[in-house]
Amino acid sequence: MSFLEGKAVVITGAGGGLGAAYAKLAASFGAAIVVNDVDPDAAQAVVGAIEADGGRAIAQPGDISQWDFAETLVDACVDTFGTMTGFVNNAGILRPALIEDVTERDLRRMIEVNLIGTVACAQAAARRLKALGGGSVVNVASGSQAGDIALGGYAATKGAIASLTYSWAMELRGTGVRMNALSPLAETAMAGVNAHLMAIQSQNREVHYAALPPAEANAPVVAYLLCDDAAGINGQVIRIAGRQLSLVTHPTIASPVLEDDWTFEKVADAFATTLSAKQHKLGLAMPEDGK
Ligand SMILES: NC(=O)c1ccc[n+]([C@@H]2O[C@H](COP(=O)([O-])OP(=O)(O)OC[C@H]3O[C@@H](n4cnc5c(N)ncnc54)[C@H](O)[C@@H]3O)[C@@H](O)[C@H]2O)c1
Repeated sequence: MSFLEGKAVVITGAGGGLGAAYAKLAASFGAAIVVNDVDPDAAQAVVGAIEADGGRAIAQPGDISQWDFAETLVDACVDTFGTMTGFVNNAGILRPALIEDVTERDLRRMIEVNLIGTVACAQAAARRLKALGGGSVVNVASGSQAGDIALGGYAATKGAIASLTYSWAMELRGTGVRMNALSPLAETAMAGVNAHLMAIQSQNREVHYAALPPAEANAPVVAYLLCDDAAGINGQVIRIAGRQLSLVTHPTIASPVLEDDWTFEKVADAFATTLSAKQHKLGLAMPEDGK
């Protein structure tokens, strides 16, 4: 199948987990891949697997939290494959902790990798794709952006990625460059990062999964977003959770919108009579929860 023939794509954090699955499927569909990972051996192993399967790939190891490294990734793609048509901002880390246990070090590192790294790469990718006439940037959010136990800091970085995707997709309208985000779900090294906290979550979270899907189950959505069939898709967060494919709602002003000249007393009365009962469910909600 040649859905991505002629495409050249950078995928960060593609030495393992979801990124490796995206890289292998996109390469099998004809795309040339720049495989990035902070672990050079892991990146090279994925390149080896792609080449053994008849595909084209190079390794460009490095740390995406280093701002200038984004340009190195873009240059590597264009210099090696003659073009760049897509960029998958997949690399991310998770340092789970309950509110009392969050450390400055872990929070700063998540922000550096998940947010600063994504911003730097998205900027470098958007600039180059614009100059080349268009293309697709895929960022990676998470169901945790809706809130989850022990994932406050991580969720904040992923919510930020969703927000910048909405903003930059608006700015990029009409340029031929589109920017979307994926909200994946898979059994990877990250998903099993802390068994104790996962056990706490399983008792408290709103959505329960019997078993996490394999990384490969997420890859067709990324391949689709990288291909020209998805030219009209922009600014969306797409959720893939095993057999469930859906769009994630953008934050919206909820109904009812009460109108008045608001004094303290009137605000208190609005909550007592209407708004207290309208509070939103916490955590990732399914459509039937909103009925
Ligand atoms: N696994 C899930 O269910 C899930 C759910 C929601 C979102 N995500 C997101 O999907 C992405 C991939 O997650 P995964 O589950 O495959 O994780 P993973 O830990 O299995 O793989 C992440 C890869 O990124 C690399 N990496 C880490 N820091 C890096 C850096 N600074 N520069 C370059 N590479 C770096 C790692 O070496 C690793 O190979 C992440 O952004 C994660 O937040 C995963």
